[in-house]
Amino acid sequence: MNILAIETSCDETSAAIVQGDGMGVKIISSIVSSQINIHKKYGGVVPEVAARNHIKNIIPVVNKAIGKAFYLHSEKKKQKNINYSQIGRKEIGLIAVTSGPGLVSSLLIGAQTADALAYTWKKPFITINHIEGHIYANWLRHSRSIELPKFPSLCLVVSGGHTQLVLMRNHHSYKTIGQTRDDAAGEAFDKVAQILGIGYPGGPIISKLAQSSESEYKEKFHLPRPMMNNNDFDFSFSGLKTAVLYLVNDLKKNISDDFNSLPKSIVAEICKEFQQAVIDVLIAKTIKAAKAFKVKSILLAGGVSANYELRKQLGEKVKTDLSNVSSYIPEQDFCTDNAAMIGAAAYYRIKANPEFLKQRAKIKVDPNWEL
Ligand code: KG4
Ligand code: ZN
Repeated sequence: MNILAIETSCDETSAAIVQGDGMGVKIISSIVSSQINIHKKYGGVVPEVAARNHIKNIIPVVNKAIGKAFYLHSEKKKQKNINYSQIGRKEIGLIAVTSGPGLVSSLLIGAQTADALAYTWKKPFITINHIEGHIYANWLRHSRSIELPKFPSLCLVVSGGHTQLVLMRNHHSYKTIGQTRDDAAGEAFDKVAQILGIGYPGGPIISKLAQSSESEYKEKFHLPRPMMNNNDFDFSFSGLKTAVLYLVNDLKKNISDDFNSLPKSIVAEICKEFQQAVIDVLIAKTIKAAKAFKVKSILLAGGVSANYELRKQLGEKVKTDLSNVSSYIPEQDFCTDNAAMIGAAAYYRIKANPEFLKQRAKIKVDPNWEL
């Protein structure tokens, strides 16, 4: 069955067609229209602006996802302005949409579009939790076959709004065993980038600068690893962000002639040390929890899992410290917000309870929906 999935929880308008089977979920098409270029001049996502752009983008994005899945490989691709949604609706068996957590005005655009399409096309309709979507990106299949995660699994969810360690004893069984007490990991990347004046969103920019760090300042700066050796599985990133702020203010006073800017080599070295501090804490707590709960798989989920060093170092650490545990990380393009992951989560919801196909979910968005 083809699932049309829609995701608009923050600043990405996305639609995808996916199909599930015993070997995971196959992506037939995936369209992500990012608004980063619009929001970066404000230094972050402006909810009003995001919602207005979702309204503009949603129908073309859905149209393109359907067109790419079923028509664009054929002769019809030569014809312009085709309403693929209209002709493609017969191919779709289910419509899935993110209905929380996220920005309420953004969520509403996706949810109302999905609801309207389901009503007019007479299709079943299901609402999906955004964090569940991030976790199920680990069940997306890119090549012919993948080994699927085994339970119990431990998921490290690291996004712009969430940082949590979630124990899954089976599909849809979630127990949060630790979480951030203040900022989320992605939020810390974004705020530190703001302090350094290097742009938005912080994660990809910091990661790129950290890779370029080869300077006389190598390993000169030392930032704290908050709560790394505590007995619980919680995190805290707000103090780390403040430590960067103090360091930057000191350096600006002592090193830079121009109070407003630091040399690029220093900025790159701070990025490297900050990124490593976040990674050290995330990995230490994940490995400790994996041992404590004797899990078989470790899953990485959320936008921060696109981070090259985190992906590499977590994979290496699991190999050396946990011989019987496999680690799973979504392909980089499916770490940040996308509709394919929502389709994957929908497939497993339907598999667990086919009754969903007989009823139409009530449209209800919940900006604070917890797993
Ligand atoms: O999951 P996501 O796309 O949206 C939310 O659900 O929040 O995550 C966005 C977050 C942002 O804070 C962004 O800075 C961070 O993910 N991010 C990264 C990287 N790419 C995106 N953080 C670190 N390294 C990256 N390469
Ligand atoms: Zn997300």
